[in-house]
Amino acid sequence: MEDQYQKPVLGQARKRRGNETQTFAYEEKSIYAGMGNGKHYYIQTHGCQGNEADSEKLKGLLESVGYVETMDEEIADLVIINTCAIREHAEAKVFGEIGRFKKRRRENKDFILAIGGCMSQEEVVVERLLKTYRHVDIIFGTHNLHRLLEFIHVVMVEKRRVVEVLSVEGDIVENVPTARDSRFKAWVNIMYGCDEFCTYCIVPYTRGKERSRRPHHILEEIHNLANQGYQEVTLLGQNVNSYGLDLDDGSYGFAELLEAIQHISIPRVRFTTSHPKDFSDKLIEVLSRKGNLMPYIHLPVQSGSNVILERMNRKYTQEEYRLLVQKIRNAIPDVSITTDIIVGFPGETEEDFENTLNLVEQCGFEGAYTFIFSPRAGTPAAKYPDTLSMAEKKRRLLTLNQLVNEGFAKGNQRFLGETVEVLIEGPSKTDPNTWSGYTPHNKLVHVKNGESYIGKRVFVKINVAKTWSLEGEICG
Ligand code: 5AD
Ligand code: SF4
Repeated sequence: MEDQYQKPVLGQARKRRGNETQTFAYEEKSIYAGMGNGKHYYIQTHGCQGNEADSEKLKGLLESVGYVETMDEEIADLVIINTCAIREHAEAKVFGEIGRFKKRRRENKDFILAIGGCMSQEEVVVERLLKTYRHVDIIFGTHNLHRLLEFIHVVMVEKRRVVEVLSVEGDIVENVPTARDSRFKAWVNIMYGCDEFCTYCIVPYTRGKERSRRPHHILEEIHNLANQGYQEVTLLGQNVNSYGLDLDDGSYGFAELLEAIQHISIPRVRFTTSHPKDFSDKLIEVLSRKGNLMPYIHLPVQSGSNVILERMNRKYTQEEYRLLVQKIRNAIPDVSITTDIIVGFPGETEEDFENTLNLVEQCGFEGAYTFIFSPRAGTPAAKYPDTLSMAEKKRRLLTLNQLVNEGFAKGNQRFLGETVEVLIEGPSKTDPNTWSGYTPHNKLVHVKNGESYIGKRVFVKINVAKTWSLEGEICG
């Protein structure tokens, strides 16, 4: 049985091959038709928007053969956990979740438990699952999720475990059935993988080499979404600014793609994530023309110290980053910029940390995701000597967060008394009588009486600015 498994090898995943990525269209197979009739599935999604987009494909595949989604895992015939490997904490959470289904699997032999996503791409994880979590029926990776129905079929018919994780990066598969969670906001992958190899990051190993989708496939998808009434698309890639460098002669890049998208009648376009090193002047110029391109940029800096940036392999200095922010602000004065920061990277001195604080203060971020460095097995930084105590790392995180929160609050305050456009999404998480949505600058706004506006863009007069959100009244 063991030799049927196709397990991941991180060393292989590191290699980048020169061969061109193949694109092919997903084909439905009649043998799977109706396979899920009368059955329910439950998907738990961990991690980033890339995983959320993947889960929508998994759902689309399942629904194409009759499975129906349930939010009640107790009645699910199939549970899929789409995992995240970015930090240790994320992984620990997933192992806890997998453990919870042990009893269920023992009591019901037809119940199927599948594990997909980034954790499946790690050797150590798959070994641990095979040894300790024997109730898992399917382990699949990020390169072959379009084969989900095949895996389920094997488990159902042959009653055996399926492990198929490819280390060599996959092709691009177009037209995979997709069941989107929202009727007005959509994810659109523009590329897969990452070639940056920041020394702390597991993503280039779990997601493979950078592969851009062909522009016409992306534009067609956005056209179709616009025709269906979608109000907002978020373009996804680990480093969207290097979009297209792997296509043909590399001359059709992210700026050209955005220029084309500007002409599609989709009201709002966002994108994530931008690597500072590839943010071109042409891109800034295209963004400054605005139209449907939102004045909001997530621009991870990671550290304000050149020593640390170099050790992280980020390929820019803090001076270059500041200059870029300045150039963006000159071109788009009202822009809202957020960032990602890691504290406690191996060897980070008090002075390095102070440099990060200075940069945060001076760049005027209106939000940041902040993290304590988490060593990921197989990445270079996991082997760097790390002597700083956890208590000190936590203190740095806390200090940084205070500063970040001030920026967050300032970013909200600038809209006090203004009228802003809000795409109303649904009831607020904390108060069912309040409705929430986001502005072009990605500010969270709460309103009363928003029920009939779900999925619509309305104008809201802002009368309260809090640290995390704005409040106002719909005025048109
Ligand atoms: N430890 C801590 N944070 C990390 N990130 C990525 N890898 C790690 C790690 N090993 C953070 C980076 C990245 C964000 C998505 O997650 O800040 O931008
Ligand atoms: Fe990870 Fe760096 Fe790639 Fe972002 S750019 S996914 S941090 S390796």
